[in-house]
Formats: sequence, structure tokens, C-alpha cells
Amino acid sequence: MKSKLFSSIKIRGITTQNRIVLSPLCMYSARKGLPNDWHFSHLSTYARAGVGIIFTEATAVQEKGRITPYCCGLWNDKQAVEFEKIAKFIKDMGSIPAIQLAHAGRKASAKQPWKGGTPLDFKSEEKDEKPWKPFGPTALALGEGWQVPKAMSLEDINYLIKCYVKSARRAVAAGFEIIEIHAAHGYLLHSFLSPISNKRNDDYGGSYEGRIKLLKNIIVAIRKEIPDRLPLFCRISAIDGQKNGWTIQDSIKLANILNKLGVDVVDCSSGGIVGRPRFAIDDKGDILKNITDRGLGFQVPLASEIKKSVNIKTMAVGVIIDAKQAEKIIEQKQADLIAMGRELMYNPFWPLHAAQELEVDPNFDMWPDQYRWAVNRRSKIVKFKEIS
Ligand SMILES: Cc1cc2nc3c(=O)[nH]c(=O)nc-3n(C[C@H](O)[C@H](O)[C@H](O)COP(=O)(O)O)c2cc1C
Repeated sequence: MKSKLFSSIKIRGITTQNRIVLSPLCMYSARKGLPNDWHFSHLSTYARAGVGIIFTEATAVQEKGRITPYCCGLWNDKQAVEFEKIAKFIKDMGSIPAIQLAHAGRKASAKQPWKGGTPLDFKSEEKDEKPWKPFGPTALALGEGWQVPKAMSLEDINYLIKCYVKSARRAVAAGFEIIEIHAAHGYLLHSFLSPISNKRNDDYGGSYEGRIKLLKNIIVAIRKEIPDRLPLFCRISAIDGQKNGWTIQDSIKLANILNKLGVDVVDCSSGGIVGRPRFAIDDKGDILKNITDRGLGFQVPLASEIKKSVNIKTMAVGVIIDAKQAEKIIEQKQADLIAMGRELMYNPFWPLHAAQELEVDPNFDMWPDQYRWAVNRRSKIVKFKEIS
């Protein structure tokens, strides 16, 4: 059978083996921003599983831009050396190594999710868990219990752009072939975009043009820094899902602008501007109705709407768990790429199993050499074995 999900896609100078993407997944397991054996083992699994594009977790461009003290970073060369090993393995296995560059903004200085995900405690005795002062567009806390961020000065903003550029340079040198700018989920760049969190009245706020200016400047600076053959992705929260928040119309307008600045793919997530992602009915349109229940493919309409309205590739994400579901999204041109998070954690070999289900890999050719011959033999045994 011919499958769209298992067809390759060429974006600038990069060609993937299929449309399946490991969505960025924070592991909250690094020390001093350095990826370690856990990160290697976690990401290399997906390379063995034949995932087309493998994203690192949100990787901070500044130490203060980490969500937790245990998040990865790329603000120094030592971190780049560790990332290089991961990128090389992914590439050697035929997948595309990709990195998400991020700054947590006013959501920084938090505990790991399994410790509640709440702000770090000023009373904590743990050496590594001292809170720090987060940055934001405006001195407005995320919610009760969260620190009031420092409203960024123009000097802070210019320094931040330089940090993005330097991290991008290190990422390319380390072998990453796609860079994604994280402008979603209420983190720093999203908090500049959204009228809920950006109350500035200088060049970086005040109007739609002002609110998008920081993201635009970062995109322009990074596009200039990285080779032409490398794709640039941007993850956005396509809707805030809050009253008076960022809307799908804002996203369509932004996607048009990003397209002209050299962004190749808009990665369409949603929510997060106030606290944990939560979705309300957006009064602007029907397509957003099923966003509220967070069911199967709940954000696919966002990717589809942007793709329909703008000449840009989109990536769909959010409860995509089934091979036929993923196939249909690509076939119906709702998105160009399928990002998956929790389903790939649950079943890391999902792509290889999906290929069986869609009957595109009868002889296990997609499996690594080391496994293929044995798995092929197993399939014959399993087929004929009587199970009583
Ligand atoms: C453990 C975990 C860590 C995550 N870390 C990130 C991250 O670093 N950057 C990001 O943009 N999204 C992050 N997300 C969101 C996922 O990339 C994805 O958009 C979300 O889980 C929805 O997709 P899913 O239903 O396939 O899991 C994270 C999600 C989970 C569950």
C-alpha cells in the first residue's frame, strides 16, 4: 500500500524518511543544562524506531531561560559537545536531528512536574533548587504563587536575541539539521505575542506589530545565521483559548509574516498563556469547537486552518495516536508533518508498528539491521504458533 504518512518530504535541503516527528519533550533530567545518558538513551530510541524528525526537548538559550533547574541548555560549548553525540547517532540512523530553542520567560524557576511543577520554593534546602528571577514582557505573574517577572529592558531584549543566535550557531555546529523556535505554551516568546501577558507600550508591545516584533527579530537573526539548506520551524500556540487572548486570525497573520521571513513550518500547538494549558471555546469560529475536549487530534483543525490560509507547511500535534488517524491527516492535507509526544513515550516503536498496520513494510525493511532479521523470523513463528 502507498502511504502518505510514510512518504518523504523535502524542506529546503533536508529530506525526511517519513512524516513522523518526535515532538519536543522536556525530560527535566539535566544538570547544568547538559544532556546526559538519559537524553541519549531517550532520543536514540526514536532513531532506532525510524522516526523521521527527532526533536530535543525545549533547550534554553540562557541559564535563566530554563523551566526547571534540570532543563537542557545550549548557552555554552560544553553543552554543544554533549548534544553532538546525540545528533550524530540520530543522523547515522537515517533520522533528522532537530533542536527546539527556548526561553521559559515567566514560567521559569519551577519544580519538575513530578514534584508538582509549581514555582521553586524560596525555603528549599536543595542546592540545585534555588529559585531565580524570571523575565517577561511585563511585570505580571503567571498566576497565584508565581514570581512577578522582571519586565525586560531593551538591553535585555538585545542580549536575548544574541543568545538565540549563539545557540543556533552551536546547534548547527553540533549537527542539528532543523531548528525550531519555541513561541508557544506561555513561555517567553508566546508571552510577548499574547495581549494577555504583554502590556508594554514601547516598540515590543502596544499593538499586534509590537507584540510580534521580538519573535520576528529572532527569526530574522537566526535565518541569517544558519545555512540556507537548513529548515527553520516555529512552534506557536495557535490560540490562547482565553477571553481577549491570541486568536487563530492572529496566527494566520503571523504565519504569513513568518513565511516571508524564511520560516518553513509552523508547528501548531495551543494554550498555556495562563497556567497549565487549558482551552476555552473561541468565539471566533466553529473549527475550534473540538479543541475544548482535548480529544483525538484536537489541535489538527489549527494546523489545517493555517495551512489552508497561508502558503506554508504545518505540523499537527496533540493526541495523534493511531496510524490511520495520522495517515488521514496527511492524506487530507490538513498538515504536512505529524508530531507525537505521549504516544511515542508509551510506544517508542510506534512508527515501525504503524508501518505494519498500514501494510507498507511487509518485510520489516524499516527496522534496523540488528533487529530486522530476528523480528522477521519472529513474525513467522508468531503467525503459525498455536496460542492456547
Ligand atoms: C513530558 C512532556 C514534555 C514536554 N515538553 C515540551 C517541550 O519541551 N517543548 C514543547 O514545545 N512542548 C513540550 N511538550 C508538549 C508536547 O511536545 C506535545 O505538544 C503535547 O504533549 C501534545 O502532543 P501529544 O498528545 O502527542 O503528547 C511536552 C509534553 C510532555 C507530555
